[in-house]
Amino acid sequence: GASGPLAGRRVLVTAGPTHEPIDPVRYLANRSSGKQGFALAGALARVGAEVVLVAGPCALATPAGVTRVDVETAREMLSACRDALPVDAAICVAAVADWRVAETGAQKLKKDATGGAPPALALTENPDILATLAQLETGRPALVVGFAAETDRVLDHARAKRARKRCDWIVANDVSAATGIMGGDDTAVTVITDAGEDALPAGSKVAVAEALAARIAAALTPTPET
Ligand code: C5P
Repeated sequence: GASGPLAGRRVLVTAGPTHEPIDPVRYLANRSSGKQGFALAGALARVGAEVVLVAGPCALATPAGVTRVDVETAREMLSACRDALPVDAAICVAAVADWRVAETGAQKLKKDATGGAPPALALTENPDILATLAQLETGRPALVVGFAAETDRVLDHARAKRARKRCDWIVANDVSAATGIMGGDDTAVTVITDAGEDALPAGSKVAVAEALAARIAAALTPTPET
């Protein structure tokens, strides 16, 4: 079996974008690469955790020692997360689409069917996976962590998100275009918890994932009395 501080602990990680179908050949999506979530899943496995990675569509290799469940839509992601329970920690890194198309037909939308007028797409809200897991009445993971990718007033928005969703930690990062974080290999994050706010050293998504995995391990491991 695995060794390390998280040996015997089960951790769920969501990663990547979701794809929300418009019709059989089109979908709504976003620019998430999945890199940060995959890096975190790998780092958690390296410190001994049994990791279930629920991944939206992304072209990344499964990290060593990680069990991967591929999904497409937000609703499939939520259902795969529920199937993965119980877990000691749930880390929601996925960039879940906030909305999906309310009614998707079985046939491809046709230009001629509307006389050339663009079709109106009615959207409906997707489930919030992080908020759902953080507010489970039975079987809530001991540690629920969300990510907040923001382009302005990053810490304010992240604090508000933590309170609204009722997760334990929010990992805030500034994804404004100039940072190159969205889709890039490097990142800089601030971890917001009940105990305060810590800016981690900036670095590769892999290095930041390792720092986060160490914190998660410390949070799930009872500290010996001194
Ligand atoms: O509200 P916002 O999308 O900015 O929140 C980001 C956090 O919430 C991330 O941890 C993301 O994985 C999670 N989230 C989710 N389900 C949604 C929307 C966001 O799990 N439908």
